[in-house]
Amino acid sequence: MLNINLKGKKAFIAGIGDDQGFGWAIAKSLAEAGAEIIIGTWTPLLKIFTTSLAQGKFDASRKLSDGSLMNISKVYALDAAFDTPNDVPNEVRENKRYKDVEGFTVSEVAEAVKNDFGSIDILVHSLANGPEVQKPLLETSRAGYLAAISASSYSFISLLRYFGPLMPPGSSCISLTYIAAEKVIPGYGGGMSSAKAALESDTQVLAFEAGRKWNIRLNAISAGPFRSRAGRAIGFIDHMINYSQANAPLTKELDGSEVGNTAAFLLSPLASAITGSVVYVDNGMHVMGVGVDSPAFKKTDSESNA
Ligand SMILES: NC(=O)c1ccc[n+]([C@@H]2O[C@H](COP(=O)([O-])OP(=O)(O)OC[C@H]3O[C@@H](n4cnc5c(N)ncnc54)[C@H](O)[C@@H]3O)[C@@H](O)[C@H]2O)c1
Repeated sequence: MLNINLKGKKAFIAGIGDDQGFGWAIAKSLAEAGAEIIIGTWTPLLKIFTTSLAQGKFDASRKLSDGSLMNISKVYALDAAFDTPNDVPNEVRENKRYKDVEGFTVSEVAEAVKNDFGSIDILVHSLANGPEVQKPLLETSRAGYLAAISASSYSFISLLRYFGPLMPPGSSCISLTYIAAEKVIPGYGGGMSSAKAALESDTQVLAFEAGRKWNIRLNAISAGPFRSRAGRAIGFIDHMINYSQANAPLTKELDGSEVGNTAAFLLSPLASAITGSVVYVDNGMHVMGVGVDSPAFKKTDSESNA
């Protein structure tokens, strides 16, 4: 029987702040396949996430198919917009949600993971942030654009640079992208479309570089619209979900487990020759060139009677 077996593999998943997003869904699929789960949570959300976890607020969604709860070995505070302590501006360091937290830059988290676990086999980048996402690109400030690229694209390069040396040959990484990298999605602003385009291009270049350097693979999943915290922050997620259901080849709503299971496959040895790819998990929406629910396709009364 062919199955996904990740027993004995350690997975670091960057970008889980609750049980509603793709990061959580991926963690669950990896846990179902037997992997050990280690999490990086955005520093400002660390307290609420760890408190909710300890209070059992995620227990219902932690349940695996055998009835046990997904075990989370450790949660690290992570701000993937900063590589080293010297990069952290004073106003961030003094911010009330950062000042009591130590070691949240990418290099420090990688060092801590190395000390705690020795190595990791799986790296997941499931994070993005565009402070001006609701502004059209034409009205996006330079600072907003660069912040989107920094948190959403460069963060992957940084994670790979610092975690790569902890990953044995045959290890694998994924990131999450969106069709707005390739096609216009009005409303997905603030430079987030640019950030996703960079992420997809970097997936190819890094696949070559990391493949040659460490013999590790990396791919991106281009996911359909999903009602996560980040999805809701864009402001029109329900319209995007309705649009997809009305126009995609498959008319169901996307379930997080569909992204999680694809991630588990791509991160497993079953995908050992797949690297540098963007894999669409979007009910097929990306193949459509027209919106079939457009009024332009509605038959007029005279056409219907003909
Ligand atoms: N929701 C969608 O419709 C959709 C579609 C396609 C792709 N994606 C992508 O999926 C990925 C996961 O997003 P999601 O929709 O599951 O939402 P989410 O809110 O669950 O995940 C995004 C996470 O990124 C974290 N984050 C933001 N800035 C960070 C930083 N500087 N350092 C560390 N963590 C940071 C947030 O705290 C949050 O936990 C993102 O890359 C997103 O762009 C989402």
